[in-house]
Amino acid sequence: HNPELDRLLQAYEWSAKFYHYLLKNTEYGKAAMDYLRSRKFSDHMIDQFQIGYAPDRWDTLLQFLERRNFDLAEMDRGGLLSSRSEGKGYIDRFRGRIIFPIANRAGKVVAFAGRILGEGQPKYLNSPESKLFNKSRILYNLHQSKASIRKTRQIVLFEGYGDVISAWESGVHNGVATMGTSLTENHASMMKALADEAVIAYDGDRAGQAAAMKALSMLEATGLRVKVAVLPGGLDPNEFVAQYGGDRFREQIIESAVSTVKFKLIYLKKNHILLEEDGKIAYVKEALQIIASLHSSTEREVYLKEIASELDLSYDSLKQDCNLLRASMQ
Ligand code: CTP
Ligand code: MN
Ligand code: MN
Ligand code: MN
Ligand code: MN
Repeated sequence: HNPELDRLLQAYEWSAKFYHYLLKNTEYGKAAMDYLRSRKFSDHMIDQFQIGYAPDRWDTLLQFLERRNFDLAEMDRGGLLSSRSEGKGYIDRFRGRIIFPIANRAGKVVAFAGRILGEGQPKYLNSPESKLFNKSRILYNLHQSKASIRKTRQIVLFEGYGDVISAWESGVHNGVATMGTSLTENHASMMKALADEAVIAYDGDRAGQAAAMKALSMLEATGLRVKVAVLPGGLDPNEFVAQYGGDRFREQIIESAVSTVKFKLIYLKKNHILLEEDGKIAYVKEALQIIASLHSSTEREVYLKEIASELDLSYDSLKQDCNLLRASMQ
């Protein structure tokens, strides 16, 4: 039992409510509300995820906390305030930012992520790591999604806040996100403890797809069955939902997630120019490495046939090369 942590939890809970109120009910929040609406965040999403706004002023939260007799040095250590760079005293840490409260598994707010309105650096400002908030041990939205995860035995892994939120609104209630850090072993074992299957739904851009390659190995290593949702055109899930709607997102992206082998082949293909012989041969060589390591001969046949028809090659020659490779792998 630690009284300083209890006070900090209380401060985060009240600050989250305060920022949410400012967003929804005051002039300060108007521009942020317009921004959220332009990005198709509904009132329902804003409430469900207790999204807020920290006005672009130095002392909004400072005064709120002072009036409630919080110790300001403590609030500085906890990441709600910052020390002035010159002189004594404190200022608000979050200014002019949309606030996404981050809760622990028990549903207690332990940190904020603050997104700038529009363009600018840094895009997200987070609370610092603390006794309460350890990024590598927290999955965003786990407190709300764990019931659905346990029930479906499936967990969907996103990159960011907006992705989890718009997926939720689309009816995907088993989504979580890591927050700017890559997936850790610790995240992976938390996921394995709740689910049998993980669906990776990272952004469709290069960075997201590369991160998905890493994440899938980590998740498979825990014994989870893994699938990958492939986002078209470099979109992230949040953008896909805004553009095509939640039904298409559920059906064409989440429910159509592909096997990890299929995903590796798709990923590999992007790095080769299949119209050229060199590219085609290099692609086939690397693809065979993936396929040859599959234990099931049915699975090998399925993928070899796909490649054969796609590249206009004979199944027999692919199978022969695959078997040679398998023999050399023994
Ligand atoms: N992130 C972060 N700091 C950054 C960039 C990203 O903490 N400067 C984290 C956030 O948790 C973010 C996630 O990484 O949600 C994914 O990053 P990105 O795809 O760049 O952001 P989006 O979630 O798509 O944010 P937005 O749609 O608001 O641009
Ligand atoms: Mn709803
Ligand atoms: Mn991204
Ligand atoms: Mn994104
Ligand atoms: Mn996004």
